Amino acid sequence: MKPTFQLRDYPIFVGDLLDFFPNWIQKQAYSQYFIITDEHTRRQCLQPFLDGTGLDSDMPGVTIPAGERFKNMATCEQIWQAMFDAGLDREALVINLGGGVIGDMGGFCAATYKRGVDFIQVPTTLLSMTDAAAGGKLAVDFQGIKNAVGLFKNPAAVFVEPVFLDTLPARELRSGFGEVIKHAMIGDPALWDRIVKLDSLDGVNWFDFLNPSIAVKVKVVEEDPLEKGLRAVLNFGHTIGHALESYYLHTASPLAHGEAVAIGMVCEAELAPKKAKLRTGELISIVQRFYPHRVVPESALPELWNLMQQDKKNAAGAVRMALPDAEPYTLHLMDLTYEDLARSLMVCNML
Ligand code: GLY
Repeated sequence: MKPTFQLRDYPIFVGDLLDFFPNWIQKQAYSQYFIITDEHTRRQCLQPFLDGTGLDSDMPGVTIPAGERFKNMATCEQIWQAMFDAGLDREALVINLGGGVIGDMGGFCAATYKRGVDFIQVPTTLLSMTDAAAGGKLAVDFQGIKNAVGLFKNPAAVFVEPVFLDTLPARELRSGFGEVIKHAMIGDPALWDRIVKLDSLDGVNWFDFLNPSIAVKVKVVEEDPLEKGLRAVLNFGHTIGHALESYYLHTASPLAHGEAVAIGMVCEAELAPKKAKLRTGELISIVQRFYPHRVVPESALPELWNLMQQDKKNAAGAVRMALPDAEPYTLHLMDLTYEDLARSLMVCNML
């Protein structure tokens, strides 16, 4: 069966896990399987995954607590320990069944265990289906900085099964939709026009948004797998968004990743030069329609700025953000000052 997307190194299959997976796995020669879940995906996705793939329910694995708070070295140690306990050899396959945290951290553990075993991504959230599962970025957070320690290594395959979206609460879907908006703005004006016309996210057929969104991600990572240039555009909204997400992570009201990115995209678009020709007005109305308003207090600015100093795009001491423009697949890099951050957040607060 032909994959939905064939990248240089690996296939991405969208839908029909039942057909795609057994077909793919029988052509491989893995010695063992090891599955990584979190407490949610173990409860809601493991059985459908096993039913769909025919894999043995007794296969070894590890279940970790759910959430970004646990995407750290301590959880990695737990995962590596479970891999050693299961006696995994280097011909084994690690299966990451979960959202972005499982994919990034499970991939990181697999890519470093005994200097690397193969892994597949089986994303279970809209966010990981459209963004995190493809492109080989693997990482964990370190000292409160998102994705501070990691590497690039591609999965052996990605299996996107939209049935898992039925398990998600509305907030999680809205969060993932942030990346769909980002991809539309980067490379797909037709997808953008569909998003502009959406009145509500209730009753949306997410399957319709998956392929066009993944297609943008695939085109960018195939052109620039190691983020030497164009791939930075996938960071649109993330310079400010990641800082907001980290800032709120340990408060009583954390922001979901896509919620933070939605605010980040508006702030960064507000700072964009006119020549970038961004559709900022439409972006603002989309974000206002689908995301709750969050007022960021002025007192947060020093810590946000501090967090932004760690952004991986920074060079020569400058905080750098990445913007698309009206021409699909174009990257603008722009340096930010503390005053820019303050001004853009003030604008966002007033919307
Ligand atoms: N999520 C951004 C990237 O894959 O580059």
